[in-house]
Amino acid sequence: MRRLTVPKIRARKVDGVTEEPIVMLTAYTARQAQLLDPHCDLLLVGDSLGQVIYGLPSTIPVTMDMMANHAAAVVRGSYHSVVVVDMPFGAYEASPQAAFEAAATLLKASGAAAVKLEGGEAMAETVEFLVQRGIPVMGHVGLTPQAVNVLGGYAARGRSDAEADKIVGDAKALEAAGAFAIVVEGVVEPIAIAVTKAVACPTIGIGASARCDGQVLVTDDMLGMFERVPRFVKRYEDIATTISATAEKYASEVRERSFPGPDQLYQPK
Ligand code: KIV
Ligand code: NA
Repeated sequence: MRRLTVPKIRARKVDGVTEEPIVMLTAYTARQAQLLDPHCDLLLVGDSLGQVIYGLPSTIPVTMDMMANHAAAVVRGSYHSVVVVDMPFGAYEASPQAAFEAAATLLKASGAAAVKLEGGEAMAETVEFLVQRGIPVMGHVGLTPQAVNVLGGYAARGRSDAEADKIVGDAKALEAAGAFAIVVEGVVEPIAIAVTKAVACPTIGIGASARCDGQVLVTDDMLGMFERVPRFVKRYEDIATTISATAEKYASEVRERSFPGPDQLYQPK
């Protein structure tokens, strides 16, 4: 099967209608990508890897090297989904030129097809600069975690009329600049629906609405791997409990010298 392409993802929304919702999950490692790839349209190498993989307190400290290395692993582990890489905080905000250099570095290092960056109107010029130079861009509006220090936390957005208007305006600006899809994160549902109606490109919701054109979740949250999960996460599994219980079993077998057993040993002829 040939890998999906950015234009094919964009074309899933026709005249405001997306018949088959777009499926995206985060992936950070090759094996994770292998397992998720057949079920997804897009794999996002999210800067959420800062918290999920590296135990950082936010996405602010995430580096270009982290993003490039994990993106390369995800590309190696997938053959079907479009791989999108998050631009880390600090790599793209200063100017369209800085953003192009960072985006090109990420795509060259990894083989990913597109980048994602946070921000609306303020980033529209940058999005256009990248798209016109061969780099597909996914936008990200609403709750934008890299702005945690400005927002003062991770509370849902769009509760006031001014905030709601700003989010819709941000999404429209990104679309006009050429974004092929827009993540809508952590907003009250009517705003997610308003954004989805306002833009011709697909919206990908997270803590948004089932009426977005697609959905994304942090895979580790979906699997029940992370300690704290926000309201919008559905835990489909409880992998953390499985891992703890397995480690406990292994540890006790080592301590009572019942592992390794006969099946695990090489016997002389
Ligand atoms: O970094 C990430 O995982 C993301 C998604 C939650 C959209 O940006
Ligand atoms: Na992100």
